[in-house]
Amino acid sequence: MPDQNKFPHFMLKEIFEQPQALKNTIAPRISLQDVEVRIGNEIRIIPAELRSMRRINIVASGTSRHAGMAGQYMFQELVHIFADVDYASEFEYRNPPIGPEELTISITQSGETADTMAAQRLARQKGSRTIAISNVVNSTVATEADGVLYTHAGPEISIASTKAFTAQMAVLFLLAAYMAQGRESIPKDALRTWLDELTALPEKADVVLQCSDTCRQLADNFHRFEDFLFLGRAIHYPIAMDGALKLKEVSYVHAEGYPAGETKHGPNALIDATLPIVMIATCDHKDPGSVLRYEKSVADMRGFKKQSARIIALASEGDTAVSAIADHTIFIPRAPELLAPILEMIPLQLFAYHFAVRKGLDVDRPRNLVKSVTQE
Ligand code: F6R
Repeated sequence: MPDQNKFPHFMLKEIFEQPQALKNTIAPRISLQDVEVRIGNEIRIIPAELRSMRRINIVASGTSRHAGMAGQYMFQELVHIFADVDYASEFEYRNPPIGPEELTISITQSGETADTMAAQRLARQKGSRTIAISNVVNSTVATEADGVLYTHAGPEISIASTKAFTAQMAVLFLLAAYMAQGRESIPKDALRTWLDELTALPEKADVVLQCSDTCRQLADNFHRFEDFLFLGRAIHYPIAMDGALKLKEVSYVHAEGYPAGETKHGPNALIDATLPIVMIATCDHKDPGSVLRYEKSVADMRGFKKQSARIIALASEGDTAVSAIADHTIFIPRAPELLAPILEMIPLQLFAYHFAVRKGLDVDRPRNLVKSVTQE
C-alpha cells in the first residue's frame, strides 16, 4: 500500500497530488509543436469511424458522473456533437435507444463499478462503440471497452475521489479536442490556444493548493452548520454537484449541488442565514457566454445577501465585484471556461477535507461507503 508521505490522511495527499496527476495525464498525449492531440492508438477506433459518430452517451456513477457532466459541455462546445450523460445505475431502466454511429464513454476510477460495467455492456450489445476512462490499468471496464484512456492519477486510496476526478475531466477534454481535430470543428489556432491552456493547468493547480489554510479556516468558521447549498451555472454546475458530494460523504452534513439558475424555482425559499451558500462565480472574460452567466451569478449573490445568506464564493483572480458581495472569497487563477472547473474543484475538496477533520471524522474511510461499488 502506498504510504501517506507525511500527509495525515490519504485524501489530503491525493488532493495535493493533483498537479502531478494532471501533468502525467496530459503531457504525453499532446504535441505543442505539431499542435496535435495524440490518443489514436489508445482509443482504437479508426478516425473515419470516430468522425461518423452522431451522438455521445456518457455513463458513470457518483463523482465520475460529475466528470461526465463537465465532459458534456466539452463535446458540445468543441465537437458540436450531442452528448448525453446518465447515471450508470439508471441507464438500463431507460431502455436507451442507442446503436451504431454512437459512442458510449464509461467513466470509472476503479473500472470495477458494477453499474458502470452493466451500462457499458448494454451499450455494446446495442451496437455502440465504447471508450472507457479508467484509473486502474486492465480493470474490467477498461478491458471490455473498444478503447481505453487511462487517467494517470496513480492509486487513489481515500474513498472520496479527488485526483481521479480532475484527471477524468482532463481526459474528457483531450478526447473532445481529439475529435474536434479529426472533424476540423475547431481552427488550428484555437486548438493551439487550448493545448497551451491545458499545459498550463498543473502549475495553476499548484497555485490553487495554496488556499488550503484558508479552506481550513473556513471549515473552522462553518463546521456547526448542518446544511449547505453549492451553486454553479453551465460547466460549473457539475463542480457544485461534486463539491456537495465531497462534503456529504466525508463530513456527514447535508449538502446539495444545484444549478444557480434553478434557485428561483424552489430552493430560494430555504435561503437565509442558516443555509450557507458556496457559489462558483468565476469568469472567462474572453467568452461572452461566460460573462453573461457570471453577471447572473453576481446578481444572484446580491439577492442571497438580501436574504441574509452567508456566501463563500469562488472567483477569478483579481475579481473585486464578487469579493465585495461574498463573505469569503477564494480566488482561482484565470482559465478558459471549459478548463476552469478542474481548478475550481480543488478548494471544494479542501473545504470538505478540513471540515471532516474539524469534526474528528474518519476522512479516508467514511461510514457506510466502499471505494468501489462492485454489486448493483
Ligand atoms: C465519491 C466517490 C464515488 C465514486 C463512485 C464511482 O467521492 O468516490 O461517488 O465516484 O462510486 O466509482 P468509480 O469511479 O470507481 O466507478
